[in-house]
Amino acid sequence: MVIGCRVIETNDLTGLPKAELYQELANQISAIIQDETDPVANMANAAALIYHAIPQINWVGFYLLKGGELVLGPFQGKPACVRIAFGRGVVGTAAEKRTVIRVANVNEFPGHIACDIASRSEVVVPLVSEDAHLLGVLDVDSPDSDRFDAEDEAGFRAIGKIVAEKL
Ligand code: SME
Repeated sequence: MVIGCRVIETNDLTGLPKAELYQELANQISAIIQDETDPVANMANAAALIYHAIPQINWVGFYLLKGGELVLGPFQGKPACVRIAFGRGVVGTAAEKRTVIRVANVNEFPGHIACDIASRSEVVVPLVSEDAHLLGVLDVDSPDSDRFDAEDEAGFRAIGKIVAEKL
């Protein structure tokens, strides 16, 4: 892990039980973003840490609420749709409803937007400011059907909260 210009060794999280994995990942994300004020840098490092720590995901990134639509932010994975209308797709629906949406089979979600055809399941977590404004969402995709359970959701909620505090 790199903080400032220092390279910091991060523990390999693979093989940890899920609850510990998300706790350790949240700790790593907190550590790397705590002293940095730039939101793009912080989202970029959070996306990279998630992508390399969580097994069986093919895309992770942020969409930010700008001018009433969701605009692509820092991510890891294949190039993705840049602008998503509020209320469209999993991302726009989670943003509109301000609720976490976990989709076991994206092909069964009405209006799902296929950015990477490999994606089979998805979880989207709204990011909300301390004064209750919607800032954007954290979106995570998997090539496996039904990849995300309640524990994954709780883990991503906690990470979303940590990142939202720095936006
Ligand atoms: N599948 C999302 C679009 C974003 S990509 O997954 C990166 C959706 O339906 O909103």
